[in-house]
Amino acid sequence: MRSQPAIGMVGLGAMGRNLLQNMAGHGFSVAGYDKDAAKVEALRQESKERDIRGAEDTRKFVGLLCAPRTVMMLVPAGAPVDAVIRDLLPFLTPGDLLIDGGNSHFTDTDLRSRTLAARGIQFLGVGVSGGEHGARHGPSIMPGGPAEAYARVQSIFEAIAAPVDNEPCVSWLGPGSAGHYVKMIHNGIEYGLMQMNAETYDMMKRGLGLTDDEMGNVYDRWNQRELSSYLIEIAVQIFRRVDEKTGTRLIDVILDEARQKGTGMWMSQDAMDVQVPVPTIDAAVAMRNLSAFKNEREALSRRLVRTGPRFSGNRDSVLTQLRDALYAGTILTFAQGMAQLWKASQTYSYHVSLESVARIWRGGCIIRASVLEPVRAAPDLSHLLLDPALGDAVMARQESLRAVVCASAQWGIPAPALMGSLGYLDAYRSEWMPANLIQAQRDYFGAHSYERTDARGTFHTQWEKE
Ligand code: 6PG
Repeated sequence: MRSQPAIGMVGLGAMGRNLLQNMAGHGFSVAGYDKDAAKVEALRQESKERDIRGAEDTRKFVGLLCAPRTVMMLVPAGAPVDAVIRDLLPFLTPGDLLIDGGNSHFTDTDLRSRTLAARGIQFLGVGVSGGEHGARHGPSIMPGGPAEAYARVQSIFEAIAAPVDNEPCVSWLGPGSAGHYVKMIHNGIEYGLMQMNAETYDMMKRGLGLTDDEMGNVYDRWNQRELSSYLIEIAVQIFRRVDEKTGTRLIDVILDEARQKGTGMWMSQDAMDVQVPVPTIDAAVAMRNLSAFKNEREALSRRLVRTGPRFSGNRDSVLTQLRDALYAGTILTFAQGMAQLWKASQTYSYHVSLESVARIWRGGCIIRASVLEPVRAAPDLSHLLLDPALGDAVMARQESLRAVVCASAQWGIPAPALMGSLGYLDAYRSEWMPANLIQAQRDYFGAHSYERTDARGTFHTQWEKE
């Protein structure tokens, strides 16, 4: 006889279905529901051997679950989450637990937590990373919400998460929207890393004139060493994939306009709110936006023509510089993410353990990378550049980063994320910044006052002489 499902999943798209299969594969009895009956039927068909049940309507679905119930939602962020909650609420009772496993904005999660708590329903906002493959074989899971609510699903999440060194890539991160905030930072870092990868691709393709084969080999070599990461690993596969339709490399028939659901943008937006600089992520968001202006780019490429210096010299030494620049940029991007998380954690009272975050990002998720080992080992993650090993690793590669930024400017190849990373490094290395002029100008035109280097207090000068 089948046991009563310990957890139910609403939303049987690729993520929800695979996560259910993962849970069932670890011996948990589960149930699934989707308003699309075809998806429920597909779940039944692929689950004959497993303890997975499907339901066609909400009442039957909730009725299948053992009380107090645990329901996880994996539906697109925004209105669909609220629609599912509205649909479920009449059938839930105080003490039940609702989990949002999608990429919800953290402020939505806070609002939902409060609304549901008023009805006695516990709520967890959980970031799940790793795509379909990760969901099925081991994602990185970033849960936030009441600790006692997490305790109810801890054993399930620990069983299904990706293991690294026998530790599951999951950890309770804090109250309220802590989990979704950490997932947002994950996605912002994802944007930054992807943009810098794209910039190295551009430098190799338009700068050095490398073929797809050659670039695949370069990324393959980079993936063997300190740059080893999921995103570099899949870049190797991408450059080698042949298009079935044309017989050419698939990468060359993919339109050069990047789409987005906006989670990287959310990180940039909140960075502004908590006043933490994240220039690499800002540049990555801006470049995705700019890429969408294809018509304008086509027109301007014919009007704003520049015949400047082209690459000449030693290709291998440029490739080494690109590799080192990308590694420095990678550390600088993680530094920005961690710094924002540290500040936000205080601002929103999450009290997130940055060490736990670095630990659970080592496996399963999209930004998993070998650099997370030294990041995790850093005793103070609030600013990674303060860590001697990571600071030295960046400084050992700074000349390469500078050379790549110079070459991109000379060749007219845009590399704003790498440039933003270098600017971030140089600004943090600057004991003195020209912000005194900004202060003086604010005081000049708006009497906003300024502080002095030689006395305490605030001062105002009557700048314009009568
Ligand atoms: C993950 C990914 C995942 C998804 C994003 C992409 O961690 O598995 O980040 O959440 O790929 O939705 O976001 P964009 O559509 O904004 O690129």
